[in-house]
Amino acid sequence: MGGTLFRTKSIEQSIRDTEEPEHALKKSLSALDLTVFGVGVVIGSGIFVITGTAAKDYAGPAVTLSFVVAAVVCALAALCYAEFASTVPVAGSAYTFSFATLGELPAWIIGWDLVLELALGCAAVSTSWAGYVQSLLESWGIPLPEVLLGPPADGGFGFNIAAFLLIAAVTGVIVVGMKLSAMVTSVVVAIKVLVVLVVIAVGAFFVKGANYSPFVPGSKETAGGSGLDSTLLEAVFGFTPATFGVMGIFAAAAVVFFAYIGFDVVATAAEETRNPQRDVPIGILGSLGICTVLYVGVAIVVTGMQKYSELDSDAPLAEAFKAVDQPFWAGLISFGAIIGLVTVVMILLLGQSRVFFAMSRDGLLPPLFCQVHPKFRTPYRSTVVLGLVSAVIAGFVPLDELAKLVNIGTLFAFVVVALGVNILRRTRPDLPRSFRAPWVPVLPIASVACSVWLMLNLSVETWLRFGAWMLLGVVIYFAYGRRHSRVTAD
Ligand code: ALA
Repeated sequence: MGGTLFRTKSIEQSIRDTEEPEHALKKSLSALDLTVFGVGVVIGSGIFVITGTAAKDYAGPAVTLSFVVAAVVCALAALCYAEFASTVPVAGSAYTFSFATLGELPAWIIGWDLVLELALGCAAVSTSWAGYVQSLLESWGIPLPEVLLGPPADGGFGFNIAAFLLIAAVTGVIVVGMKLSAMVTSVVVAIKVLVVLVVIAVGAFFVKGANYSPFVPGSKETAGGSGLDSTLLEAVFGFTPATFGVMGIFAAAAVVFFAYIGFDVVATAAEETRNPQRDVPIGILGSLGICTVLYVGVAIVVTGMQKYSELDSDAPLAEAFKAVDQPFWAGLISFGAIIGLVTVVMILLLGQSRVFFAMSRDGLLPPLFCQVHPKFRTPYRSTVVLGLVSAVIAGFVPLDELAKLVNIGTLFAFVVVALGVNILRRTRPDLPRSFRAPWVPVLPIASVACSVWLMLNLSVETWLRFGAWMLLGVVIYFAYGRRHSRVTAD
């Protein structure tokens, strides 16, 4: 049994599979398309919404440092992703990588984990989009009824209709084809980047030095921070749950990490890229670099415009401009956020359907998920099924619960990919690698350590939910995937 659980799928077999006509995706993307995709999915709720809560609840103005910490963790992982994607240019990202290195069961686990990251990420971003839409509708005097805004904070029934409709519409666009979505994405990404640049350039005129003091607010014990709410680090080492201070910078980093999620999704489009060996590393590292510079700029400016304790939790960037009497810029930012978050949802959904597609092509999921549409050449069935599931989740679950789960799932994938780089260097040194991560094996080990560190800074409750999801995945694997796998042991 161990033989089948850990059978690997050779790189050559993975690449051959992509050439079977009934499973072939259209190769139309360039390095620029990938970078635009990357930036399009990375800049989203993280910077538009989560910056505010992270500064207010965990780190104060030092949230800028949290963005740097999260960027370092992502950069280490990005180098590993880039090497992998340039070696195994096949749809499915970390899932495909782990199949080639760790074996079938670990690959299934990571694929299942990616579904969590992408499906819930998509749902999380669409709920924050719905929040902006609601605030815009309110300012026009046409608010939606309470029951259509999502689950109320104090429990009871509520359905987030705007979030649901957004995902349903985006699903339709993706089914019609990559080219259309790439074109729409480029325009929207340009608007989004422009709005972020406006925040930095215009906001800089309203910065007050006094708002930066204290830059690292003193550590404070948290009242409700015991039991399930405390971080795993505090729970394991018996520390008193606290916020702010130096540890607050790391706790905030584990939260704002959400802002960087997406550069790894570039790797899921490898198979649809004209020259994946060269273009995928450019797309991954390029989008991560651009976003890091923009995020640090926004964090410095926003915490300088308004005292961190007064930052808004729902729309901190727009509200910071309102606080300095600039309603025009505030409106423009809200508009940009509404447009910009759409691309994030679109690309997360796109990545997610490609992971499902790859898992189904290997026989680990029913074959209906890997059929390509005869006209559009897209995996339309997996796109529609996953789109509907994400849309329903977005209707019923609030943003913060979704975001934390997405973070832990993504960090787990980072760990697996980094380990995979070291394994593949040893088991297949012969494979051509147009991009080689530097300082292997030290860099991947550092990547694992940093990702685990951020995971430890997430709450016990998040760990338990993550564990439950993974357990469900293992059950499904033994009930279906193991018996239907198309992969033969090497
Ligand atoms: N990084 C993406 C966002 O912040 C997921 O919305």
